[in-house]
Amino acid sequence: MLKGTVTLLGDKSISHRILIFAAMSNKNCKIKNLSNCTDVKRTISILKNCGVKIYNANNTIIVNSTSPLHPNRKKFYCGNSGSTARFMLGFLPSRGISGILYGDKSLSTRPMNRIIKPLQKMNTNLHSKSGTLPISFKASKVSQINHTLSVPSAQVKTSLIFAALASEDKSIIKDPFKTRDHTERLIDFLGYENDDYTKFNIKKFSYTVPGDISSAAFLIAGALLSPQSNITIKNLLFNVTRTGFISSLLSMGAKISISNEHLLQNEPVCDINIKYTKKLNAITINREQAIAMIDEIPIFSLICAYAIGTSTIRGVEELRYKESDRINSIIYNFKNMGIDIKEKNDGFDITGPNRLYNTSFKSFSDHRIALLGEVINLINNKPIYPKAEIQSLIKTSFPEFYDIIGSLYE
Ligand code: S3P
Repeated sequence: MLKGTVTLLGDKSISHRILIFAAMSNKNCKIKNLSNCTDVKRTISILKNCGVKIYNANNTIIVNSTSPLHPNRKKFYCGNSGSTARFMLGFLPSRGISGILYGDKSLSTRPMNRIIKPLQKMNTNLHSKSGTLPISFKASKVSQINHTLSVPSAQVKTSLIFAALASEDKSIIKDPFKTRDHTERLIDFLGYENDDYTKFNIKKFSYTVPGDISSAAFLIAGALLSPQSNITIKNLLFNVTRTGFISSLLSMGAKISISNEHLLQNEPVCDINIKYTKKLNAITINREQAIAMIDEIPIFSLICAYAIGTSTIRGVEELRYKESDRINSIIYNFKNMGIDIKEKNDGFDITGPNRLYNTSFKSFSDHRIALLGEVINLINNKPIYPKAEIQSLIKTSFPEFYDIIGSLYE
């Protein structure tokens, strides 16, 4: 069982963004509770390579961008991080930097045309052979754009906003899908109040990143499914564009309570208590609901396997373009465990409750699938002795996972 109270390091999505805003500010900014995951380290190392000074002083990250940006090396490595790659395509050329962006094997297969095309419309000089990384780019004087997202991607939206913030002209970027809105909230927090995007003077700031809600999902699932568990997570991000996982669990009958809701620098945060719940009911998730829980679908599908009845998850074809084809990764492992799951093009149906059979779990080199495998071990009371490869994968988003489980496990 899991018992106790924890706080988590900062949300990964917000951590990338706040670092880039600090790099744009030409000031000396302070960030507390920044994520320590490998993906965010990729963003830090690219910014450092552009001459931004970033260092840790008494648990506060100082980002000093007072000197003009100038790259030391022309090659920028994004590792496994889609956010780093897409954000940097909006940020680097528009701020006068030329070079080549590349990534690991998985990132090199992920679709980039969704960002290359609109950035090219803004006069960004980008070149890719096949719509994937590597992408070469040249310093560009970007022009304005009037753009409506055609895929539900907050990474694309954010990248375009970063480019638009380098131009004197006003851009309009519309998001009919209501994807995560951290960039918009940060811009408000930094003192710019308009709905269009143009260059503005970013004030010197101090910012504390709220706890990572996507990492929390693995602890929440572990507590919900392990008898007698009772855990509290404090200072957790509670932004409605990210809370689809929690609101869906509440609809399924999960014993979850929210308290201490308040705004922390323009982001809603809360404390959340989760208790083991013996009886969970099946649920239907549509495209709109899925957007607010897109990174949580793998762990959510495990909860559906324990719920009574048929859960239907649709409109999640974007999962096929994540660190692995996550629909395929879930189907493969769940079928191996004997779970009643049926694949659809844009999702799957799971009928429960299921008894999970013991098999070896395949991570598909995907951090969120690896974390799903570890939560399955946890609820089956199997000791977690991670292989180095799994530990390293999990560090992509949640390096503290094993320490936190160790502190909560009884
Ligand atoms: C993210 C947006 C989502 C999400 C990713 C982080 C962000 O990706 O899956 O983990 O920080 O904007 P897409 O924009 O590709 O949907």
